[in-house]
Amino acid sequence: MTTTTDPSSTLGELTIDGDRLWDSLAALGGIGAYDDVATGLVGVRRLALTDADRDGRDLVVGWFRDAGLEVRQDAIGNVFARRAGSEPDLAPVMIGSHLDSVATAGRFDGCLGVLGGLEVVRTLDDAGISTRRPIEVCFFTEEEGARFGTDMLGSAVAAGRIDLTDAYALTDRDGASIGEELVRLGQVGAGPVPMPRPPHAYLECHIEQGPILADHDRQVGVVLGVQAINWWEITISGRAAHAGTTPRGLRRNASLAAALITVHADEMAASGDYGRLLTTVGRFEVRPNLVNIVPALALLTVDLRNPDADALDRARTDLRACVDSIAERTGTTITVRETAHTAPVDFSPTMIDLVEATADRLGLSHERITSGAGHDAGEIAAIAPAGMIFVPGLYEGISHNPREYSTPEACADGINVLLHCVLACAEQ
Ligand code: HGY
Ligand code: MN
Ligand code: MN
Repeated sequence: MTTTTDPSSTLGELTIDGDRLWDSLAALGGIGAYDDVATGLVGVRRLALTDADRDGRDLVVGWFRDAGLEVRQDAIGNVFARRAGSEPDLAPVMIGSHLDSVATAGRFDGCLGVLGGLEVVRTLDDAGISTRRPIEVCFFTEEEGARFGTDMLGSAVAAGRIDLTDAYALTDRDGASIGEELVRLGQVGAGPVPMPRPPHAYLECHIEQGPILADHDRQVGVVLGVQAINWWEITISGRAAHAGTTPRGLRRNASLAAALITVHADEMAASGDYGRLLTTVGRFEVRPNLVNIVPALALLTVDLRNPDADALDRARTDLRACVDSIAERTGTTITVRETAHTAPVDFSPTMIDLVEATADRLGLSHERITSGAGHDAGEIAAIAPAGMIFVPGLYEGISHNPREYSTPEACADGINVLLHCVLACAEQ
């Protein structure tokens, strides 16, 4: 590693420019901004492959280019921005996350990891530091799964878990496919998928999205891995009928079936029979949705999470059986389509130790934590040593909500840990 000529700064004390990072988060947070009625705040809405997502991508790619990075894109729209190393043939150190958001987001989820990677590059450039290995800052397509129904999609295609053809065929609620939307927005890159060469190491900094670090007054989360995730789309077909004239025995009530599934899923989580199972019915739509008509149709999603794969599988089997009995009880026809299924992920022990030792060396309080949320790092961990750094969120760590918030200091702490982890990996 060629260090800076400035004798006053030693590498170990190198720090990022926290104001510049914060300003870039604010600028990106202005893209897809909307007035959120429920909170009275300005939220962020950059669903994957919408015009707002394209605008956010364009802004960040422009910053990548301003920083002299060589930008490329792959066939699923993932973007990689490369800072040359003194030994260009070495596999790069990759820093990533995502720019797409849920429909009611804050400005940190995903963005902190990508803009934190850009800040690492800017800091190294300011200090005149070159590294042995190239460094690549990247963002992946449709991490949230909020539009096309499958989460960590771009990183799963890049890592080879999901086939490109299958990914292109995924559609949103209006029938638009990922393939069509990538073409419409000019986001189909020439780069091959799966990625032809795995990185030497992958690092991602992310807001925790939960209450633990703030509750424990910790500055950094040393992430051990990611829990399993399983998503269902459930379609319940009944029969529309008059609410006043149709006896109970003649009803095919789709909303009753939906409600029974919703309650049963929560009772499973509450029972303790499936370990630390969490169940969420996030989407609950009935049609025709009118006061005096027994609903003919209901559309549900179920999100199942568990750090224990076996307990999750038992929950899937039992919930499936319950759905079948509810169909029989209500006289409805129920179809279940599984749209996402990721196994639990354990990050590389060497990366966990590196994150922990770096936080220690920087004098930051830290604790080991398993991620409740899915992340791109969980996909890249299949092909390279991956590690994650969490920063605490305020307001009980609320996320997927415009109230999502971390402080400038906390974000700077997390990206300083990222900086020094990247420097260590870039010299290996
Ligand atoms: O759903 C998740 O856990 C992530 O935010 N995609
Ligand atoms: Mn995220
Ligand atoms: Mn998210």
